[in-house]
Amino acid sequence: MEEKNAALMAQLEKLQAKYQATGQDIISYLEGLYYTDFLNYWDYVHTDTLLSLQIPRTSLPDEQIFIIYHQITELYFKLILSEVNQIADKADLTTEFMLERVERINRYWEILVQSFVVMVNGMETEQFMKFRMALLPASGFQSAQYRLIEIAATDFINLVTKDLRPTMKQASIEQMYEHIYWKEGATEIATGQKTLTLVRFEEKYGAQFIAQGHAFLSKNLRKRYLSLPADSEKMPALHQALREFDTFVNVKWPLAHLRSAGRYLQRNVDVLAATGGTNWQKYLPPRFQKRIFFPELWSEEDVENWGKAAVLDAYGMSEK
Ligand code: HEM
Repeated sequence: MEEKNAALMAQLEKLQAKYQATGQDIISYLEGLYYTDFLNYWDYVHTDTLLSLQIPRTSLPDEQIFIIYHQITELYFKLILSEVNQIADKADLTTEFMLERVERINRYWEILVQSFVVMVNGMETEQFMKFRMALLPASGFQSAQYRLIEIAATDFINLVTKDLRPTMKQASIEQMYEHIYWKEGATEIATGQKTLTLVRFEEKYGAQFIAQGHAFLSKNLRKRYLSLPADSEKMPALHQALREFDTFVNVKWPLAHLRSAGRYLQRNVDVLAATGGTNWQKYLPPRFQKRIFFPELWSEEDVENWGKAAVLDAYGMSEK
């Protein structure tokens, strides 16, 4: 008993020191604690709020799967951004710290890639065709967090549409943003007309994307790993983890995603109109745009064949 009391007194003294440091009276806070209710799981996780956020636009039951899976993905994107930001802002960054965080990021992407089958096989095509029409012109294309991850991962030039990359190396963030790959994907080349999906997306987030570009100019993941000592013991492991990250974001996830587009949109030409308006067969396959966050970690051959096998596989074709 005496031991317990001594421990209690020690804790109280520590707390008193904490409160005193900011000129607060610990006795008032202790009194407040007396009336504070115990924390419940549902208050902490906000389950009621969370479960009230699935609001279908139709009465088709499978629409719920579509909404919830998008929401789950956005939550993982949030976790990924949180790790990316920690690496970007870490003073005295070490190879060990970066490696551990990139491994966390890869774990999240792995879950996203593996679980995409929920979209590919988990909904009735008939229902999908119907409820997707009710969601026009919304598209996952408008996921801002996806774009923020890309901008934080690499130098802006690596996100510029492939053919312009060699000529825009000295361009400003604003100039490069005008030619970011996804704008071209949602613009009709002949007329220069942007899809409504793109117009709305830019109205809401354009300024934020440019600000993100400036903020990550010298602290994006590529810049940060290049600033680490090349001879550090964990560098080969970090290279490997970054290659995996590049593959998850720029090949494996696009491929898993492409499979769902293949399943639901391929067979019905009319349904092409039910997307964000891109020519998705030309736009989505990873090998056409060759987005690569860490080009120096790949051989010329790797770059040449970027996502090639993956695309052939998605359409059930072999390389020959
Ligand atoms: C049945 C499921 C899905 C289908 C059929 C589908 C279809 C498409 C299509 C056709 C596009 C091209 C843009 C457009 O024309 O709309 C697109 C883009 C996109 N979708 Fe999905 N999508 C599905 C699920 C998802 C999910 C669950 C997410 C998670 C957030 C997502 C995120 C994205 C992103 C980030 C893009 C832009 C990709 C890029 O710019 O390369 N999609 N989707």
